[in-house]
Amino acid sequence: MKKRDILLLIGALAIIIFLWMAPPESTKPVPKDETHIQFHEMVKTEGKKAAEKFCEDCHNADTVPFPEDHPEKFRCLFCHKVK
Ligand code: HEC
Ligand code: HEC
Repeated sequence: MKKRDILLLIGALAIIIFLWMAPPESTKPVPKDETHIQFHEMVKTEGKKAAEKFCEDCHNADTVPFPEDHPEKFRCLFCHKVK
């Protein structure tokens, strides 16, 4: 094996190990229940931006309040994944 091949191999291994060690996604995903299933569909057909418009109909201080330490709220689906 050439020296360059060995370096490539070590580089690839380093990347795999790095990805392996990354912490699991910790922000809760959008639930797949009766309330939210429609948004999973909407993200597929119309995209995240369209779906997000509806989140705050329920997720607001009066109906379903956010946890007190909730971060900046615009663009829900950047952090709360739909999967
Ligand atoms: C019709 C009202 C309604 C709409 C619209 C809605 N939600 Fe919810 N959501 C709820 C309720 C009620 C709960 C708490 C009970 C539950 O888990 O279903 C909740 C819970 C959640 C949770 C916490 C789940 C958990 O594991 O604790 C997340 C995250 C969430 N919603 C994200 C979203 C996002 C993102 C949108 C927009 C795409 C959205 N919701 C739209 C009513 C709604
Ligand atoms: C910058 C990232 C970010 C954005 C944007 C964001 N959130 Fe969150 N959200 C979090 C984090 C972090 C938590 C607390 C950790 C967790 O998920 O338990 C949280 C918690 C929540 C919870 C409570 C989950 C529980 O523990 O029951 C709900 C509901 C929620 N977010 C809904 C929304 C909605 C709706 C939007 C858009 C209006 C939104 N979030 C935007 C990061 C974000």
